[in-house]
Amino acid sequence: MGVFGNMLGADETLFKNAIALDYDYVPKIIPFREKEQKQVAACIKPLFMKRNGRNVFVHGPPGVGKSVAIKKILDEIDETTDEIIPLYINCWKKNTSFKVFSEICRQLDYKFIHNKNTDELFDVVKRLLNPKASMLVFDEIDRAEETDFLYYILEEIFLKSIVLITNYKETVVSFDSRVKSRLLPEIIEFKPYSIAETKEILTQRAEYAYFQGVISEQAVARISEASHKIGDIRIGLFLLREAGNNAEARSAKKVEPGDVELAISKLDKFSIKSFDVLDEEERKIYELIMDNPETKIGELFRLYQGKGGKGVYKTFQRKIDKLEKNRFITVDKIEGGAEGRTTIIKPNEIDKKLTEF
Ligand SMILES: Nc1ncnc2c1ncn2[C@@H]1O[C@H](COP(=O)(O)OP(=O)(O)O)[C@@H](O)[C@H]1O
Ligand SMILES: [Mg+2]
Repeated sequence: MGVFGNMLGADETLFKNAIALDYDYVPKIIPFREKEQKQVAACIKPLFMKRNGRNVFVHGPPGVGKSVAIKKILDEIDETTDEIIPLYINCWKKNTSFKVFSEICRQLDYKFIHNKNTDELFDVVKRLLNPKASMLVFDEIDRAEETDFLYYILEEIFLKSIVLITNYKETVVSFDSRVKSRLLPEIIEFKPYSIAETKEILTQRAEYAYFQGVISEQAVARISEASHKIGDIRIGLFLLREAGNNAEARSAKKVEPGDVELAISKLDKFSIKSFDVLDEEERKIYELIMDNPETKIGELFRLYQGKGGKGVYKTFQRKIDKLEKNRFITVDKIEGGAEGRTTIIKPNEIDKKLTEF
């Protein structure tokens, strides 16, 4: 065998199917969520008999399979019946009633949405949905700017189950009382996976993604450990991909422990929480907060401007609010003292967890 015998050719890859490591990939089997899926299924069951379903409120920390478990149920409905319309809407992307109704129209192939206002769009939605039953999933519902669309649907769509998904259990409390009193949802909590469950889920994804023999059981075990510590399966998926990329960069045919460790060391604050949540300016501000923990908001704004930060103070404040809402930072408002009221910004715990590896 020549010197290149153990090396990966320039046009070769270790990945059989890299898409399997995407965060929104829906694998064939979703282990460890049967119980939760059955609870949801029980709530939508009346729809099969042309009776109104029950509503569901799903909550749990990020990366514990909430979205994927519910998407799987929608897929099954799509495959088994024409009588129930499955709809999935991410309220991070569709955060107003107007956008939600436009999206429902789009998903149902209704094309004449131009020049229609929210009320007119809802009239269309009513016509499209009402002859049948529907399961409407609103993922990341805490990101919606307003929830009027829930009220309209609760009032005027007759046969439906509404499923709301969020990382924050308090979300339901923040709905206005018209919505709350009509929703009365069954509450389902998704708890974090155990280390063994994490490992099995990641092993399965690694098998979909890599050619046989590329990544060892030990490598997946190490990645599972890191992923479990943070409690988010996405960390594991990120590390699986990075470890493979590192091996490919060495033109190696196998992922070695060093590739995994390098990937873990690159797990910076962003790969952990952000994913696509933050825009460029928000990342800049977050970085600044990481570099200056426990800084007053006014001081932080000056630092931000010094680094070429864009926008007025109000915009900056809104970005700080968003960082807080997404739990990147803690905002402490301190009353009293020589300066009256001060607001101190601190980065969140996540960093500490990382240093525990
Ligand atoms: N039980 C599971 N089986 C297979 N993949 C899973 C499972 N739980 C989570 N995942 C994967 O982990 C990632 C995060 O899951 P997701 O459903 O997006 O989490 P959440 O919505 O709770 O934040 C997704 O890529 C998903 O496919
Ligand atoms: Mg989700």
